[in-house]
Amino acid sequence: MKRVLTGDTPTGKLHLGHYVGTLENRIKLQNEYEMFILFADTHALTTLSSTPKMIAEYTKEVLLDNLSVGLDPKSVTFFVESAIPEIYELAAIFSMYVSHNRALRNPTIKDEIKSKGLGDQYSLGFINYPIFQAADILCVKGQVVPVGRDQEAHLEQTREIARELNKLTNSDIFPEPQALAGRVGKLIGTDGNPKMGKSLNNTIYLSDSKDEVEKRVMNMYTDPKRIHPSDPGTVEGNPVFIYLDTFAAEKDKRQIEEYKNKYKKGEVGDVEVKKFLTGILNEFLEPIRQRRAEYEKKPDLLQSILDKGNVRVREDAARTLNELKQKMGLDL
Ligand code: TRP
Repeated sequence: MKRVLTGDTPTGKLHLGHYVGTLENRIKLQNEYEMFILFADTHALTTLSSTPKMIAEYTKEVLLDNLSVGLDPKSVTFFVESAIPEIYELAAIFSMYVSHNRALRNPTIKDEIKSKGLGDQYSLGFINYPIFQAADILCVKGQVVPVGRDQEAHLEQTREIARELNKLTNSDIFPEPQALAGRVGKLIGTDGNPKMGKSLNNTIYLSDSKDEVEKRVMNMYTDPKRIHPSDPGTVEGNPVFIYLDTFAAEKDKRQIEEYKNKYKKGEVGDVEVKKFLTGILNEFLEPIRQRRAEYEKKPDLLQSILDKGNVRVREDAARTLNELKQKMGLDL
């Protein structure tokens, strides 16, 4: 069976953007592939270095997020990066095969330096995290990696490392993993910002209550040029319609088309369409909330899911690491 590995950085709870970017693909693939999902807690230090204790809290939330959307712990192996020391040993070896310039040339790293305003104050670990990510993936020899589009740069780096070490050891110890992009590349924020993110305060979380969802939707950015419901409105690029198209069930598609037509002609107000969207999102989120509530009652089960996964992955990672060290002669 082919192996899928993907991961979340536990710096906050997961939101609707994560759902269409990667969770949906995980759900689809969980029965066809052997699936591993990691919580990259060391990686989370890139943003939470001054409050490391928050990372464990977020890790539990993100595990709940994954379980609540319907990932089945009986078929998926969940594990924690910091519980697998072999990952760091692999990353140390990998880092010797990546030039410093190549690491700095990673377009996602460059974007993050800009968008987070890091200037020249980024840590060595920050520049290095794509190398850790390669070790996350290659320690279990993951072949398919369901991730958002911004992660493609890291996958490219992972493939380069795999190729380089396969050549070096004249073997095929590592696969060259492929990214699997989601149905929606990037979900627009509720404020119309092309990116949804915690620090932007423009998210709808999978764990948001009905009232929170309603509040978020009612405050959503729509068409700034439209003042009265009788003004013709713009549907294209309008977050309310983007969310409707993205999250509505098949049965609601006709109603959405009707609203679009009316909106363009100035025959329906923002409030009515927003109320409709609130209903659609709450219908979508309700089973997720219910599953979450069930799992929240069982903290021991949550811990044992991680414990079991950690044990299982350590065995695999140790095997991979030993194989590499042996082939490189690092085994005195
Ligand atoms: N960098 C990924 C993100 O921020 C998270 C991640 C860490 C990951 N390790 C991974 C994703 C390995 C896929 C595979 O979203």
